Amino acid sequence: MWATRIGFILAAIGSAVGLGNIWRFPFQASANGGAAFLTVYLAAVLVIGIPAILAEFVIGRRAKTSAIGAFSKLGRPRWWFVGAIGVVAAGWTLSYYSVIGGWVIRYIVGATTGAALADPGTYFGTVSVGIESVVVHALFMLLTVGIVAFGIEDGIELATKFMVPSIVVLLLGLAVYAFTLEGAGAGYDFLFTADFGAIVDNAGTVIPAAVGQALFSLSLGYSVMITYASYLGKDDSLLSDGLTVAVANTGVGILAGLVVLPLLAIQSGGEISAEGGPGAVFVAIPTALAELPGGSVVGQAVGFVFFAVVLVAALSSAISLLETVVAYLVDNYGFARLPTAVGLGAGIFLLGVPSAWDTAWLTWFDNISVALFLPLAVLFVVLFVGWVLGADAVAELREGSNSPGIATVWLWALRTVVLVAVIGVVALNLYDLFLVPDEGTYFVPPL
Ligand code: TRP
Repeated sequence: MWATRIGFILAAIGSAVGLGNIWRFPFQASANGGAAFLTVYLAAVLVIGIPAILAEFVIGRRAKTSAIGAFSKLGRPRWWFVGAIGVVAAGWTLSYYSVIGGWVIRYIVGATTGAALADPGTYFGTVSVGIESVVVHALFMLLTVGIVAFGIEDGIELATKFMVPSIVVLLLGLAVYAFTLEGAGAGYDFLFTADFGAIVDNAGTVIPAAVGQALFSLSLGYSVMITYASYLGKDDSLLSDGLTVAVANTGVGILAGLVVLPLLAIQSGGEISAEGGPGAVFVAIPTALAELPGGSVVGQAVGFVFFAVVLVAALSSAISLLETVVAYLVDNYGFARLPTAVGLGAGIFLLGVPSAWDTAWLTWFDNISVALFLPLAVLFVVLFVGWVLGADAVAELREGSNSPGIATVWLWALRTVVLVAVIGVVALNLYDLFLVPDEGTYFVPPL
């Protein structure tokens, strides 16, 4: 049981706010047309993200048990596979999440010594691939396993309390600084001047990318929100908790965009291209740090603090991912916690080696998570809550809520608009998978 409601909200925000916001959002925005992406992303948070997070909360609090068992507890054992998709997705995602977490560790060192600030593009190119990247990937995984194996998540939860405000302050500071730089304007134009023609022309790629980002960033489809809400009391308002998490999480993503995109625009002389890719934030931030007024010491100090805080954000998400898989095995098969965490950590580490070796693999693993696992899992969550739980779901959402009328609107939205939207996204992704394997960038492994 959460000691306080704030404890639950913090844990949910700690899971949601992570590399998805700071690393993934900026480069997805830059790769998918900036404002076009932002527009569809915001719509996706509203139309799919918020209804779906409420759906996971409702399942969890009603069943009072974690992911896979929740469905039997609600009298629908055949739906266990929805939780299973989440568990598989969690292990899969952690394999490359840990690679990026490793880069963050590397950048704590690189920023402090100044090595990362001298020539950011070259630095990223060197440390993000090959053996260098595998080593830090191992280090990050070791940290994650250590925390989960010894059950010292409490410490991290405490750190999360400071992490979110620190991230916001640091990103705000950097965003203001970026604003003062010559040439930043092109970044804002790119992010805020929506070309609706471009959205329509590129709907087949922008929509799945934006919806995928919304789901990934809110940690939806992994059943973690189900598990977290299972500890929640009946007098909490799921609606206001869900809105709080969604707004905080989306805010951090946009803030990261406001730092990274202007910096990318400055670097490229006004034209933002998709080139930044997974390295965008790792190149943009050190470039800005190198030019901070006050000389290299200031840049190095700010860099150390920034990447240290990002590490906490990454760790809080990574332990939540590993915990999802560990808890499943411990609860269902009676495995001992320590060997399970260590064994899984080793296996997931190996699964992540290709991503550490070559960023093309990282992109491929990420695409499979975001375009396949998540939309599928969320589709089933929406179907389950909308059409199977139905009236029970409405009753659950009303518990502790002071705006009971919304629950019915939410149910009907789930049953219609949300369902159709998610089916549309799944269809677009499957189309990419089966019908355009040559051009489809999502599913072809980079062999
Ligand atoms: N939302 C996290 C982020 O933005 C990543 C994530 C996705 C996650 N699914 C999760 C974290 C499940 C914990 C549990 O970085």
